[in-house]
Amino acid sequence: MLTEREKLDTLLRLSVELGYSKDLDILMEHILTEARRFVNADAGSIYLKDHETLIFSYTQNDTLQRRLPPNEKLAYANFTVPIDQNSIAGFVAKTGTILNIPDALRLPATVPYHFNRSFDEKVGYSTRSILTIPLNTAQGDVIGVLQIINAQDENGNVIAFLPEDELMFIHFANTAAMALERAKLTRDLILRTIKMAEMRDPQETGAHVNRVASYTIEIYERWARKKGSDEKEIKEKRDVLRMAAMLHDVGKVAISDVILKKPAKLMDEEYNIMKQHTILGARLFLDGHSDFDRAAIDVSLNHHERWDGKGYPGHVNVQTGSPIADYAGPDGQARGKTCDEIPLFGRIVAIADVYDALTSVRAYKEAWDEKRVLETLAENAAKQFDPELIEIFFSCLDFIHNIKQRYPEKPHL
Ligand code: C2E
Ligand code: SIN
Ligand code: SIN
Ligand code: SIN
Ligand code: FE
Ligand code: FE
Repeated sequence: MLTEREKLDTLLRLSVELGYSKDLDILMEHILTEARRFVNADAGSIYLKDHETLIFSYTQNDTLQRRLPPNEKLAYANFTVPIDQNSIAGFVAKTGTILNIPDALRLPATVPYHFNRSFDEKVGYSTRSILTIPLNTAQGDVIGVLQIINAQDENGNVIAFLPEDELMFIHFANTAAMALERAKLTRDLILRTIKMAEMRDPQETGAHVNRVASYTIEIYERWARKKGSDEKEIKEKRDVLRMAAMLHDVGKVAISDVILKKPAKLMDEEYNIMKQHTILGARLFLDGHSDFDRAAIDVSLNHHERWDGKGYPGHVNVQTGSPIADYAGPDGQARGKTCDEIPLFGRIVAIADVYDALTSVRAYKEAWDEKRVLETLAENAAKQFDPELIEIFFSCLDFIHNIKQRYPEKPHL
C-alpha cells in the first residue's frame, strides 16, 4: 500500500504522464492500472458514455486473470448500462458524484440503485467493496465512470475504501477524464477517416485496422524490451505506433473503386496504381511534426517494402513520388529499401498486415487457413520480412490469436 506522500507523488506524476497517451485503449489500461495501485484493488472497470448509455469499455481483474493460462488476456463483452438511478455505474453517471460502497451485498434499503450480481455469478467472482467515480470534464460533463473493486489490505483481504481516499480519486479522475476526452476525439477522427476508406473498400474495416494495430504493438513491445528500451519510451512509442498502424492503408482512399474492388487479380498497370497508396498515405502527414505524424509517415510509406529490397515504393521523395537521385536503379526506378533502411515501424506493420490479409477474406482472395499462413510467413523470413521480427512474431502467437478473437469481422464498426 502507498503512503500518503507516495500517493501525492504518484498523483502529480500521473497528471503529467496521462497527457502523453493519445490512444484510447492504451490510456484506459494506464488509468485503471494506476487507480487500482493506489489502494491495492483487485479489479476495476471503465465505462464510457455514449448518448444516454454507459458502454463497459475496459476491465482488469487480477483474480480472474490468475485463473487463465499464462498468456491469455481477460475476455469481456462490451455491454451497456442505462444512465439512470437503477445501477451503481448509472447512478454515478447520472448524479455526477462519487459513490463509496463498503459492501455490495449489504446495500442500505433506502438507496435507489441495485447491485447487479449476474456478472459475478457468470464468471465466479465476488465483488464486495466498490468505489465508483464519475469522469467529469472541466466543462462539467460526465464522459464516463471509473469503477474500482475490492480494495485489499497487505494480506490480500478485501476491505472497504477509506473515505479519506475519495478526494484523491476525484483529483485523479479529473485528470483521467481530460486525457480520455482528448483520446476519444483522436480515436473518433481516426475511425471517421477509416470509415471513409471503408465506404470505398469494404475490406478495410474497423476490425481489420484494429487487428493490424494490435498485432503491431504486440510485436513492437517485445522487440523494444529485447533491445533494452526503457518502459517510458516503450509506452510513448507504442501509443503513437498503434494509431499510425491503424492508418497504414489510409492512402487507399485515393485509389479508384475499379481497382480497389476488383474481384480478381490486378493487371500490372492496375497494381502500379495501387502501389501509390503508400506514398499518397504518407503525404497526408507531411505537414505535421509530431511523433505521431512521423510514425504515420514511416508506416504508410514503408509497410510494403521488403527485407530483400524487392518491395515498394523504395527510395522516393514523398512530396513528388519520384526516385531520390542517388537511389535510382539502372531502369530509373527507385531502388527498394533493404534491411535496416526500412524504418522499424514499417518492418513491423508489414508482418502484421500480411498476416491479417492472408487470414482474412478479400475481394480478390479467400481466407487462407492458419497453417498455410504461418508457413508462408516463416518461408519469407529474410526475404520479404525482417527475420528477427518474424521470430518475435512466432514467439507471441498466443497473443496474436487472442487479438484475432477480440476483433472479429463484423459488418460495421
Ligand atoms: P491487402 O489486401 O491488405 O494485402 C496486403 C498485403 O498482403 C499484400 O500487399 C501482400 O503482401 C499480402 N497478400 C495479400 N494477399 C496475398 C496472397 O494471396 N498471396 C501473397 N503471397 N500475399 C498476399 P500487396 O501485394 O502489395 O497488395 C497491396 C494491396 O493491393 C492489397 O492490400 C490489396 O488492396 C491490393 N491488391 C493486391 N493484389 C490484388 C489483387 O490481385 N486484386 C485486387 N483487387 N487487389 C489487390
Ligand atoms: C453496476 O455498476 O451496477 C454494475 C457493475 C458491477 O457489477 O460492478
Ligand atoms: C499482384 O496481384 O499483382 C501482386 C499480389 C501478390 O501476388 O502478392
Ligand atoms: C524507429 O523508431 O522507427 C527507428 C528505429 C529503427 O528504425 O530501427
Ligand atoms: Fe497497404
Ligand atoms: Fe491493410
